[in-house]
Amino acid sequence: MSRQAANIIAAQIITKPDCVLGLATGSTPIGTYKRLIEMYQAGDLDFSEVKTANLDEYRGLPRDNDQSYYYFMNQHLFQSVNIHLENTNIPNGTEPDAEKECSRYDKVVKDLGGVDLQLLGLGHNGHIGFNEPSDHFVKGTQCVDLQESTIEANKRFFEDISMVPRQAYTMGIGTIMSAKKILLIVNGEGKADILAKTICGPITPKVPASILQMHPDVTIVADEAALSKMPK
Ligand code: F6R
Repeated sequence: MSRQAANIIAAQIITKPDCVLGLATGSTPIGTYKRLIEMYQAGDLDFSEVKTANLDEYRGLPRDNDQSYYYFMNQHLFQSVNIHLENTNIPNGTEPDAEKECSRYDKVVKDLGGVDLQLLGLGHNGHIGFNEPSDHFVKGTQCVDLQESTIEANKRFFEDISMVPRQAYTMGIGTIMSAKKILLIVNGEGKADILAKTICGPITPKVPASILQMHPDVTIVADEAALSKMPK
């Protein structure tokens, strides 16, 4: 999965060196980023003109907190390739004024000219970014209350569940859907049910990722375990 995904991202960078990549954090893309670093080290990829916009950030975590997504991106990708940090963008988790931060981040993505290729992982509850199941789809950047299931799923990265932030800033579904291309990566049996619902179930904000069925250019790269519940 990671190698296939990295190849698709590499193709994007090679065909448009100054492309805008939408990036994700979490366990799923770690192998993909590792492979991209290897390609860079082999002299096959150049990130010097690449611009990035991350999906989300925990609200309240400063950049130097080792669980912030800012920290994650530096550790797993940015510090190991020749990307210019000023060309990377992540919501600012320490901005207390949610309205201000959401409109700032919407403007960041707009000023970049939109996203060429958006990388997505899939939450166990069907979230993309941190757009949690809801009764409506939200267009722009929003400040969300994380669901208990998300806090539970992400506690593995923290010392204690009480340390998992309760809120996050996330790109909205409308922004994700306006990316020219989307690459959804999914692995493991634990995501098999939600992946089947995402691809074959009804399009509903109760499964936020199901909206991807409406996007004209989505590639899904998944391992066999994640695909094990697909209808025959
Ligand atoms: C992370 C993000 C989330 C994750 C999802 C899956 O930036 O936007 O939607 O992609 O929670 O997380 P993992 O990969 O840890 O299973």
